[in-house]
Amino acid sequence: MINKFRRAKAILKKYNQEHLLLFYKELTKEQREILIDQILTIDFGEIIGLYEHSKKTINDKDTAIISPLYHYEKNLIDAKEMQGFISIGEDIIKSQKFAVVTMAGGQGTRLGYKGPKGTYELKFEETNIKKSLFQIMCEDLKRANKKYNVTIPWYIMTSEENDKKTKEYFEENNYWNYPRENVKFFIQGKLPLIDVDGKLILQETYLIKTASNGNGNVFNSMSKHNIIKDMQSKGIQWVSFGGIDNVLLKNADPLFLGLTIAKDQKIASKSIFKQDPLEKNAVFCKKDGKPAILDYDEIDLELSNSKFDNGMYKYRDSNIISHLMSIDAIIKIKDVKLPYHRSYKKNAFVNEEGMKQVPDSPNTFKYENFIFDGFKYFDDMLLLRVNPNEEFAPIKDFRSEFNPDTAKEKYEHYWKNHKF
Ligand code: UTP
Repeated sequence: MINKFRRAKAILKKYNQEHLLLFYKELTKEQREILIDQILTIDFGEIIGLYEHSKKTINDKDTAIISPLYHYEKNLIDAKEMQGFISIGEDIIKSQKFAVVTMAGGQGTRLGYKGPKGTYELKFEETNIKKSLFQIMCEDLKRANKKYNVTIPWYIMTSEENDKKTKEYFEENNYWNYPRENVKFFIQGKLPLIDVDGKLILQETYLIKTASNGNGNVFNSMSKHNIIKDMQSKGIQWVSFGGIDNVLLKNADPLFLGLTIAKDQKIASKSIFKQDPLEKNAVFCKKDGKPAILDYDEIDLELSNSKFDNGMYKYRDSNIISHLMSIDAIIKIKDVKLPYHRSYKKNAFVNEEGMKQVPDSPNTFKYENFIFDGFKYFDDMLLLRVNPNEEFAPIKDFRSEFNPDTAKEKYEHYWKNHKF
């Protein structure tokens, strides 16, 4: 232990993180071991490198050449053609070549709800029924299972922070009768959080705060936990990827699937039309000829208002985290190291007095991989613009338009007009 302690101390000195041992003397033997082992496993070079690099590059302009990414619009597809696409997609689902990955490893810091975001419940007053985001997603898959007489394999990405609680929640609810042998959880990667001064923070006096490293880590994590092999053993050819927080997400969508296959694409995303040209919303585009996302600070009014000859806007497709990939496409990028993006999030920490402090505003940088960064490894992709009233009702926080009440209203409204 003395040896380990010395090694840990030397690492902290090298990276200027000695504050992490501030409470060491007061810790129990077990707690000391937890802290020292954690220090010895964290890649300080990586996290400090990310912090230093993002300080330098945060104002750098992207010099990539921007061009539009063509989109299909769901409500403009000819009815007869649409039937053809749907039947291609239905064949894939019916022949059990389709699986779903739900990315539920996020921290949900904006919502500020204690517990995995998927366990957040919406209360439907009219019927006095409560449904969690996991239940809503499960019901969506069960509907598809019933319609196509299959059981769609459902893979759920959790994080070290929420894995245990997520699994317990599924157990408590008996998986809402989803055949449990077809539900698999896998844990995504993590990184320490770092404050504005480049210091890692403590979650407990004996524990450094780490958090999931972004939904783009899904490919590496699927590879690491043999999820891709499991899919291959089941003969899966197409996989839907979605977030957990959109209560109108349609994972098993035969039109989306069939259109992607008919247009000979290997990856696809759904989008919604960005109404306000300067809304703080990233849009799909091509960068240096490859599918990419254009951040809102890279968009000016002229670009946002530019149109194709047919009158369609070129850069107005917002990402709704609803993607489709062929198994070959997943294999192609499974081990690729995607870039990290920096975000600023609110995270509780142990202060110098050893007290837990919950900040009122963001206090830590989090480095995250984004799933769409995987798309630049392909020459093209399919983009399907859908109706936000039918497919987009995310829950992000209580103050923005993406709050639980609005999501609930949109969900209720949708299901009043559709057969459940
Ligand atoms: P968001 O970027 O909205 O993050 O995730 P979040 O964690 O839900 O909420 P905030 O930003 O902390 O408030 C979009 C989707 O990606 C998943 C989330 O669970 C959500 O379904 N996600 C995000 C992951 O699976 N892992 C991550 O590391 C981050």
